[in-house]
Amino acid sequence: MSDKNATEVVLADEEGIARATRILEAGGLVAVPTETVYGLAARADSPEAVAKIFAAKGRPDFNPLIVHVRDTEQAARYARWSDHADLAVTNYWPGPLTLVLPKRNDAALAPAVTAGLDTVALRAPAHPVMRALLNRIEFPLAAPSANRSGFISPTSAQHVMASLDGRIDLVLDGGASDQGVESSILAIRENGSWEELRAGPVDLDALHRHYFDVGLDDQATVAEGSVIEAPGQLVSHYSPGKPLRLNAREAFPGEFFIGFGGGGSDFDLSPDAHVAEAASRLYDALHQAAISDHARIAVAPIPNEGIGRAINDRLRRAAAPLD
Ligand code: TXA
Ligand code: MG
Repeated sequence: MSDKNATEVVLADEEGIARATRILEAGGLVAVPTETVYGLAARADSPEAVAKIFAAKGRPDFNPLIVHVRDTEQAARYARWSDHADLAVTNYWPGPLTLVLPKRNDAALAPAVTAGLDTVALRAPAHPVMRALLNRIEFPLAAPSANRSGFISPTSAQHVMASLDGRIDLVLDGGASDQGVESSILAIRENGSWEELRAGPVDLDALHRHYFDVGLDDQATVAEGSVIEAPGQLVSHYSPGKPLRLNAREAFPGEFFIGFGGGGSDFDLSPDAHVAEAASRLYDALHQAAISDHARIAVAPIPNEGIGRAINDRLRRAAAPLD
């Protein structure tokens, strides 16, 4: 932990990555770019370091964290790996896919990382900066999105600073995140059934269909009595702090209008109506709407296909009142 209160932003070059490595080794907090959103990283094997994540974010302690690893070999030190896990990651690790798997009894993780669950969430990110860090250190990195709990996720160093300045040691600036929405979360149960816990860039239904010929809803073995075990999936989340109206064809007076596919708006997510581009710009649009002097926000309809499902999931949560 640095002894200054100010949070420094440095370029994610060799020197910046070397500094981040030292801070992480010493148990500090560094915001790191990934291809989905910026993560707030700390060493996952240290209870003190992990406690700092929860404190900086104001995150409820029942909400577990994703453990970031280099590869399947490192992942298998923490989870009971399986053939199903191998199938799922074949084309998507490194990448925007998180697996929730049974936790190994001997997993060297701070207990708060898994919040008392007997499962662990693991992801091998593709972003070169996160990979460079993971290759330099021996421990995995616990990293939630680098925003205050409940608020908009960050896709740039500026977004991170807008909510965590003064609360963390360092921000590595690696430019804008390409994907723009958080990883897809797939739980693989002991009986081999697959469950989507969060929609994201990887189409889990299509992936299941690819290997097993049926989609997620038509599996032979359906997980019984599934409960909300991804507490971050609580309804009200990603809040811009203003009322947000969905499926708006046009703006009402006083609204910041987030458009899609051209036409007049304050921020067009994708003038050419590409959902992937819209995903990559979604959080920037919400950040701009939040700091604008408009009292309310309206968002145009977004096609509910591919990564559009993840966009609509985040927008529904952003529209839900904070409780
Ligand atoms: O793209 C991402 O996944 C980003 C980057 C930084 O990797 N991270 C991210 O973390 O979105 P976070 O903390 O904002 O969201 C993690 C989600 C939460 O909804 C949490 O409840 C869920 O993962 N989660 C973590 N461990 C879990 C577990 N063992 N079982 C079920 N859900 C879990
Ligand atoms: Mg988050």
